[in-house]
Amino acid sequence: MTSFLNRLLPYLWVAVGIASVLTLAQTLSGFFRRIGLVDWLTHHGALLGAILGGLAAVAWLLVVLGALRRSNRLPRVLTERRGLMDILDRLTNRAELERRMAQEVESIFVDAEALAAKLKAQVVGEDRICDDLAAQIRRRLALKQRGKPVGVFLFAGPAGAGKTWLGKVLADALGRKLLHFDMTQFSAGAFAATSLFGAGKGYVGSHEYGKLTQGLRDIPDAVVLLDEIEKAHGDVHKNFLTAWNDGFVTEKSDGKQISTTRAIFVLTSNAAVDTLADLSRQYANDPDALRRGAVEALRVAGFAPEVLNRIDRIFVFEPLAGLDIARVAALEIERMIAGYGLTVAASGIDPQLLLDLMARQKKMGATASSRDLTRAIEESIADSLITAKEKGARSVALIQGVDGVRAEIAESGDSPG
Ligand SMILES: Nc1ncnc2c1ncn2[C@@H]1O[C@H](COP(=O)(O)OP(=O)(O)OP(=O)(O)O)[C@@H](O)[C@H]1O
Ligand SMILES: [Mg+2]
Repeated sequence: MTSFLNRLLPYLWVAVGIASVLTLAQTLSGFFRRIGLVDWLTHHGALLGAILGGLAAVAWLLVVLGALRRSNRLPRVLTERRGLMDILDRLTNRAELERRMAQEVESIFVDAEALAAKLKAQVVGEDRICDDLAAQIRRRLALKQRGKPVGVFLFAGPAGAGKTWLGKVLADALGRKLLHFDMTQFSAGAFAATSLFGAGKGYVGSHEYGKLTQGLRDIPDAVVLLDEIEKAHGDVHKNFLTAWNDGFVTEKSDGKQISTTRAIFVLTSNAAVDTLADLSRQYANDPDALRRGAVEALRVAGFAPEVLNRIDRIFVFEPLAGLDIARVAALEIERMIAGYGLTVAASGIDPQLLLDLMARQKKMGATASSRDLTRAIEESIADSLITAKEKGARSVALIQGVDGVRAEIAESGDSPG
């Protein structure tokens, strides 16, 4: 009964409407005649009829289109186009979006071999990682459309194996700026991440951009190094999901979306070192199995599965061993000496110094890192370098004596050449 009344109701309304209009028209007709409107209509009726007819036709067309659209019977091309235009014009700056999209379809071609060679020249003992990383970057930069960062790479492995170092070397080799974030600062919770993503309106710091959002706004093709990511709170990890999944980060202070599609994310981690080392030995020739095992080990170590899913590639670093320790030590010594404005004379590092450093490293066992090595070198040679510099040295040789390391002047400011 109720539903019958409900169906009848619109017709009743129409009947009441028509009756009201007729009554009103009768009442008004005398009035219109008095003000001369009837005479005017007699002369211009045709024109008015045409205008009203046109308007009615447009109104009917809109009603019909609306009904078809609601019932999903409009041709797809019409709905998609309408939807796209409406949404983008209403919610964003479409022209700017189109301009940036046009930029993004540019492929970039990188010579993987040359890139790998640059990485290997500076990063010792991780040739396989350098080759693989260079190949990944070449493939991803060549993609025409991405909608996601160029890559999200995790460097996992023991302390001092060169994870952070490779992140820096990669940025340098690609000629890209590095945005380096020490993630140990964000262990307290998601609120700690305001310095990365900005603060919402009304909160402290809401007048300035976050360091990550500002960095990517100004340098969209940066290498973003999230160092020691495992030490940041899990909620902070999740703040990166849109960056890695959807290709943007949102700046909290003004809600603007900043593209991450040209950036390379490098994450480093010390988590699950032993398990990862075993896996990398076990599955040295099976990258898929290695990835599955590594994901599981990192999940057990506290990484959320959705975060791990978004990581494109996990590179497991080996601890430095054998001559590689000597190579890193020699490079470190060269860099340190350069820091004092000096150069190393040809074959100027006493092999005994390197042997002593390696022995010291070995004694420290599994906990030894190349940072310890650097500290040890600095302690043993800094004073003699300063003395040599004071004496006007330009180039030095380091000699290991019984009572410590000596820097011998190989070439001074006064010497010829
Ligand atoms: N494989 C390597 N090749 C060349 N230099 C290296 C290598 N590993 C370490 N070094 C040197 O040792 C320094 C410390 O290494 P790095 O900070 O990259 O270690 P890490 O793997 O990030 O360690 P942690 O997990 O403790 O942060 C680097 O700045 C670099 O000079
Ligand atoms: Mg590091």
